[in-house]
Amino acid sequence: MRLLIIGDIIGRPGRRAVYRFLEEKGGGFDVVLANVENAAGGFGVTKKVYEELKSHGIDVFTSGNHIWDKKEVYEFIDKVDDLLRPANYPEGVPGNGFCVCEKGGVKLGVVNLMGRIFLEPNLDNPFRTFDVIYEELKDRVDVLVVDFHAETTSEKWAFGIYADGRASVVYGTHTHIPTADEFILKGGTAYVSDVGMTGAWYSVIGMHYKEPIDRFLYALPRKFKVEDKEPVVFNAIEVEVDPDTGRALKISRIKEMYE
Ligand code: FE2
Repeated sequence: MRLLIIGDIIGRPGRRAVYRFLEEKGGGFDVVLANVENAAGGFGVTKKVYEELKSHGIDVFTSGNHIWDKKEVYEFIDKVDDLLRPANYPEGVPGNGFCVCEKGGVKLGVVNLMGRIFLEPNLDNPFRTFDVIYEELKDRVDVLVVDFHAETTSEKWAFGIYADGRASVVYGTHTHIPTADEFILKGGTAYVSDVGMTGAWYSVIGMHYKEPIDRFLYALPRKFKVEDKEPVVFNAIEVEVDPDTGRALKISRIKEMYE
């Protein structure tokens, strides 16, 4: 099974770059995943944006802390089964943290988890949440993929090793900066600490640089807005998994710059 995994998509410039990549080079992937927590105006996701992304060929949508930024998500997240929020939100929170789908006869499980360090300490333990989900899915899926949405590379690496041999792929999102540590771990899990964003290149993690710099200068709150000027960087990973064993065969980074 060939998977295309796209990290955080930042607003309209990010969405446009994703569509361009899918149009020009998207053939040959069995399934396309993307993190959409910043896809609508840089904060959250709307039903309209979700449907637009879906119509362009994204099969499963993951997210993170920003999933709640657009209030309408509280309504529609329970009505769709392919838009995930982190599974380790406490009980009572809307939406699902994992899903199962079938692509070309291969059963795929996707799990979304969120780290707690410098992020949201009130979440349930993502490691233990994974154990529970793994027990539920291990006999139901051929390929198991985890989006670990977290701030620190240490928490991500620790989770990668923890899930090695159980997950087929563990990839990080949230920091928007791709890391060069893609690797197949001992037990056959393809791992990368962060896939990186798809959004405006000359920006601070996809946002116009002025407000973030002001925040560093004055320590005052500033409203961030999506940078919409080109060039736009497209970051993703391509992973091949043997569905008979669930082990990854190949992981490589993809980077395109669109002027
Ligand atoms: Fe995030």
